[in-house]
Amino acid sequence: MNKLGVIYFTRTNNSKRVAEKISNKLSCKLVQVTDNINYKGIFGYLKAGSYSMRNKHVDIEFLSDLDGVEEYIFVGPLWAGGLAPAMRTLIKQFPRDKVHLVVISTESHVEDRSGFLSVHDIENKTGNEDQVIEGLVNNLQNT
Ligand SMILES: Cc1cc2nc3c(=O)[nH]c(=O)nc-3n(C[C@H](O)[C@H](O)[C@H](O)COP(=O)(O)O)c2cc1C
Repeated sequence: MNKLGVIYFTRTNNSKRVAEKISNKLSCKLVQVTDNINYKGIFGYLKAGSYSMRNKHVDIEFLSDLDGVEEYIFVGPLWAGGLAPAMRTLIKQFPRDKVHLVVISTESHVEDRSGFLSVHDIENKTGNEDQVIEGLVNNLQNT
């Protein structure tokens, strides 16, 4: 099995919770990514939606190192029908055939799914979080 690492971006900590669960189950590295933009409050929400809809480029910073990681699990939110801009930047920096993508949303699914090792949709509305995590972790442990 390749050495796995979980990388996440979050605004309201749902992706953080999911990323922590996955890294705990797999006993692997957990790395947070930030774009250093303030998305707090109603103005932050509106900024997030507007940036996502306009496909605005943001730079990202990794808050800890990824040394030794060979295969990645990206965890992050869906904003206004697409991935949060920081997630789009993250995806551009790695080959998709090294990435499992876990998308957190209220209920929508991301359209851009091609080329990844796997794509998983966690919907807050249906409460499928633990089931999806279990499926992903089991698959990874059996490969
Ligand atoms: C600006 C913005 C736009 C969003 N748009 C959608 C959407 O189009 N569809 C959806 O199902 N959820 C949408 N959501 C909900 C988030 O995907 C959901 O709350 C997610 O759990 C947030 O993850 P986080 O806590 O890691 O930031 C949106 C949230 C924000 C802030």
